[in-house]
Amino acid sequence: MLAPNADRIAEAVSRLGSESAFEVLARARALEATGKHVVHMEIGEPDFDTPEHVKEAGVAAIRENYTHYSPSAGIAELRDAVAAYAAAFRNVEPFSRENVVVGPGAKPIIWNILSAILDPGDEFVYFDPAYPAYASCANYLQAKVVAIPLREEKNWRMDLDEFERRVSSKTRAVMINSPHNPTGGVLAKSDLQRIAELAQRHDFLVVADEIYSRNFYEGEFSSIAALPGMRERTIVVDGFSKAYAMTGWRLGYAIMPEPIAKVVTLFNNNTFSCVPTFVQRAGIAALQGPDEPVRRMNDIFRQRRDRMVGGLNALPGISCTMPEGAFYAFPNVSKISADDKVLAAYLLGEGGVACLGGSGFGAAGKGYLRFSYAASLEDIDYALAQMARCLPLFKA
Ligand SMILES: Cc1ncc(COP(=O)(O)O)c(C=O)c1O
Repeated sequence: MLAPNADRIAEAVSRLGSESAFEVLARARALEATGKHVVHMEIGEPDFDTPEHVKEAGVAAIRENYTHYSPSAGIAELRDAVAAYAAAFRNVEPFSRENVVVGPGAKPIIWNILSAILDPGDEFVYFDPAYPAYASCANYLQAKVVAIPLREEKNWRMDLDEFERRVSSKTRAVMINSPHNPTGGVLAKSDLQRIAELAQRHDFLVVADEIYSRNFYEGEFSSIAALPGMRERTIVVDGFSKAYAMTGWRLGYAIMPEPIAKVVTLFNNNTFSCVPTFVQRAGIAALQGPDEPVRRMNDIFRQRRDRMVGGLNALPGISCTMPEGAFYAFPNVSKISADDKVLAAYLLGEGGVACLGGSGFGAAGKGYLRFSYAASLEDIDYALAQMARCLPLFKA
């Protein structure tokens, strides 16, 4: 029997959101356990193995007894490696170790950053649809959360005039994410320049989630941190999950002004204490080792993107913009179903194709599906064939 108060949950919990990818993954696995063939396009993780030299570094680190606690901000060698890599990759003045905080994935680092900078009532601006953790955390912190829609017709960039109208000196922080989850959209340099100009005019911080900065298919990646006057007011979030196929290692980081880094470290200290030390040693190998595996994975992602987006656009009732980064396709399915989550559940149940309803990423995602094309060409072809078979039978 439960104790009388055992089922009383803190009221603040009602402000939390969740990432539907993990829920759909559990459902898809349960279906697989019954013997059904399922193509996993729901969870956002590279299907490649972690590069050999990174695995070797992790195993060697365990053998060398890097199995103890580390400082809460991360080991000095990894923070130095991140500082050097981040400045060289983004073409900015050198960062120092004091600017870098390491965590078990970018997700908890995002949580700790927002906890460090948002007071109740502070205005927090982000773009909808979005990675669900941003609004979940900001709402939990009781910030005043402002969602500005991204526009399919602008290849999933924002309307900058609308953005300008919605920010003011009351804005504490703006969260951007390019390349973008769930749409694969990429902000143009001119978008970043306008955001930077407004950040300086209204004195707000920019949190730039650049976790897909290595999953980039057209041209060169641009970071807002590299624009004049932005290094001081940008917090760059990045990590190892997507670039190096290291989702399960749980390793991410952010680079930020030193006073904020101290507080994010305090949150690390109060929550997970530190990232496993051997995982951090593997991270050094990823950053300092050969870059060829990252480029090879991206070449394969590009082929898969073309196959997936071409195939989606050939299906009646579906249209899909060409994503320039990340590994997601975000087709418009509003002509097929008024409820994207019902359609996603139908595709899983009937076709064995696991994908996500776009509305799980915010109101502006309604009418879309998100497919992670981190799957083999064979699986992509199978998924497209299953959709071609099942969609005409779908009853809205
Ligand atoms: C936009 C974005 N940011 C951050 C993360 C967090 O990644 P991780 O915690 O694995 O580093 C993800 C993962 O899906 C993501 O899509």
